[in-house]
Amino acid sequence: MARLSHSNRTLSLAPAAAAHAQDIERAVKEAGVHSVHDPVLLDECVRLVTPALKDDHAVCVDCTLGMAGHSLAFLQASTHFHLIGIDRDDEALKFASQRLAAFSDRVTFVHSSFDQFSSILDDLNVPQVNAVFLDLGLSSLQIDERDRGFTYSADAPLDMRMDPTTKLTAADILATYSADQLERIFHDYGQEKWARKIAWRIVRTRDEHPLTSTKQLDELVDQTVPRKGRPAGDPAKRVFQALRIEVNGELDELAHVFPQILEHLAVGGRIVVEAYHSLEDKIVKSFFRLGDRPADIPQGLPVIPDALQPYLADVTHGAITADQAEQARNPRSSSVRLRAVQLIRPVPAHAARDIREWLAVTTRERTAERRSR
Ligand SMILES: C[S@@+](CC[C@H](N)C(=O)[O-])C[C@H]1O[C@@H](n2cnc3c(N)ncnc32)[C@H](O)[C@@H]1O
Repeated sequence: MARLSHSNRTLSLAPAAAAHAQDIERAVKEAGVHSVHDPVLLDECVRLVTPALKDDHAVCVDCTLGMAGHSLAFLQASTHFHLIGIDRDDEALKFASQRLAAFSDRVTFVHSSFDQFSSILDDLNVPQVNAVFLDLGLSSLQIDERDRGFTYSADAPLDMRMDPTTKLTAADILATYSADQLERIFHDYGQEKWARKIAWRIVRTRDEHPLTSTKQLDELVDQTVPRKGRPAGDPAKRVFQALRIEVNGELDELAHVFPQILEHLAVGGRIVVEAYHSLEDKIVKSFFRLGDRPADIPQGLPVIPDALQPYLADVTHGAITADQAEQARNPRSSSVRLRAVQLIRPVPAHAARDIREWLAVTTRERTAERRSR
């Protein structure tokens, strides 16, 4: 089982075992997790990814390996290709390596953030790939590990780092960001109606004592949000989501990975993405849009020149969502937007400038905000 630790740390690896249901059960038990992540829109994802993996030496990159539910199904459905499974969370990689043990000769595990896409492929000496899959957000492994602070339903340190080797924690944000910055995060990433009130309460509270636990934050939000007209669920839900997105730089990492994927995608290759947040989906949709319609055409041209024709085909024709039955079975699927494109010809030269501009515009606001801190 090939492994690459992109952060120069060595993973301790589980021994290979035969692949069958009992091994999966054992992997779950050994990892001590409560449940296996229920992969969202699994059949749709298999249907969208596997047509790109027909060649003998095809390569698929799962940028968000997690508990490997999707990747396991890809490996079972298509017998030729090699899988590169990336996750920034060591625990997820350990679990996935046990779960995929039967496919050990077909899988390379990489501990890294997916925004290092190009350098990961360079290190592995893989110039081209045929399918790239992203299933964004948290896995149930991370939610189950209550001491990591992702959930308001258990008291834990306010951490929320997907990769515990990175520096910034949720507690750091609450301790150091200005009220305006906190308000923007809660408003933009959490669509929190009471963002301003919550931000100011945090600033006032931290003058008296530091905010370090999920329980403290949960109670603070509960005391701040008016009871009348509260939406269903825990009132701190949106604040926790917003902090997690900020701690892990999720939107910028997503924006940075797409241009790199396109550099390495073979013609006929596919990018398949599951997004759960409107801002994530906006990034996916706007990037795909750069290539799935004709470029700006100079006025007066009677026909669209070949160079300006689309280079991506929208395979899903917009976003696919989960049906009622899946939403009832797996509530996490209720916000999913699944989109896929196929590279139908080499990326034309003019696209490089459009992509650079897209990246600058997509990340500009957050970059400016970070610089002002
Ligand atoms: C929703 S889970 C994936 C679940 C997986 N599809 C399955 O079926 O088990 C998302 C995973 O992506 C990882 N992740 C999120 N952002 C990442 C990033 N920027 N780079 C690498 N991994 C990331 C998380 O640590 C988590 O394990």
